[in-house]
Amino acid sequence: MAQTIGILTAGGDSPGLNAAIRAVGKAAERTYGMHVIGFRDGFRGLMHDRSVRLDSETLSGILTTGGTILGTSRDKVHKMHVGNGKRMDMRPLMKQVVESHDLTALVCLGGGGTMKNALRLAEVGIPVIALPKTIDNDVWGTDATFGFDTALTIATEAIDRLHSTAHSHHRIVVVELMGHNTGWLALGAGLAGGADVILIPEIPYDVEVVAESILQRKAAGSAFSIVAVSEGALSAADRERHDRLAELATNPDDGIREQAKRDLAEFHAVQKRHTETLAADLEERTGLESRVTILGHVQRGGTPSAVDRVLATRLGTACVDYIVEGLRGVMVAARGEGTEPVDLKEVAGKRKAVPVDHPWVVSARRLGICLGD
Ligand code: F6P
Repeated sequence: MAQTIGILTAGGDSPGLNAAIRAVGKAAERTYGMHVIGFRDGFRGLMHDRSVRLDSETLSGILTTGGTILGTSRDKVHKMHVGNGKRMDMRPLMKQVVESHDLTALVCLGGGGTMKNALRLAEVGIPVIALPKTIDNDVWGTDATFGFDTALTIATEAIDRLHSTAHSHHRIVVVELMGHNTGWLALGAGLAGGADVILIPEIPYDVEVVAESILQRKAAGSAFSIVAVSEGALSAADRERHDRLAELATNPDDGIREQAKRDLAEFHAVQKRHTETLAADLEERTGLESRVTILGHVQRGGTPSAVDRVLATRLGTACVDYIVEGLRGVMVAARGEGTEPVDLKEVAGKRKAVPVDHPWVVSARRLGICLGD
């Protein structure tokens, strides 16, 4: 009897997910004669056994489409919301579903959170294998994640367009890029789009330094500036406060810990508006009018770039080869032009941040781009 593999997509959607689903499905069916099923809406759909057959017809025509045909959700498999504010470990139920379909492997497509969930499933004996996707490019252990190239292209085009209006109005345009707690997207798009200032979480900034660099540009005849700021960027003072609170939030004393958690929640609420605060601050310090553009989810939308399609396709087909070889509990990492299986135990819980001496950072400094430090 033909073997069956299951696929699900979890976490934020990302361009290239459908290309990866297609690659896994077609390679499994055409090369190895396997059956393929998908679970709707991530781990939630697995729990409820909302499955759908992924045959050649379903997989055809999806290579170029954005989002995920399977739907997605953000969940923690060991702490699923089950109504009435209750959370439960639903892994035993998920294992039953996997067994009821007699799955040879469950392929989980996702980012850092999904890698943790995949490991949690592997720990209860579910035969998982994972593929790294995210526009943030922050999955540890892989050279690349699909979705990033597309988002980088969209963000760069946005910065290109902001240039002409910033120039015409002699304004500071502060553009906020996604990336969660890493700066790959802001740094890459800032470099590609010719931003004058790039602020990323890995390099805490001083607003005074940023204002000074804008004033220097003005003195040299450029009365406009583009500031590319990562959604997770922090000033040096905020970084210090955040790290102090995060440490206190693990204090053994209940009172101290609970207070720190409340303070941290408030800190994050204020931090959500940091781009507006920064723009207002720069306007006051430089006397130049400023405007904010928050690119938001537009960075994740639409058709994947050729680079992401190829990456998703080669990771997806390699995944099926690894399944046939008997590998489980691994992430299929991109390594140069090839792939490599990396143990989920090594990946889960880690984040690939931008090294402060990364060649992109060095290039930015050589160009005189202000990084805020
Ligand atoms: O991880 C991808 C990402 O787009 C991050 O860049 C961003 O911080 C987050 O997801 C937004 O999440 P949501 O779509 O749940 O608002």
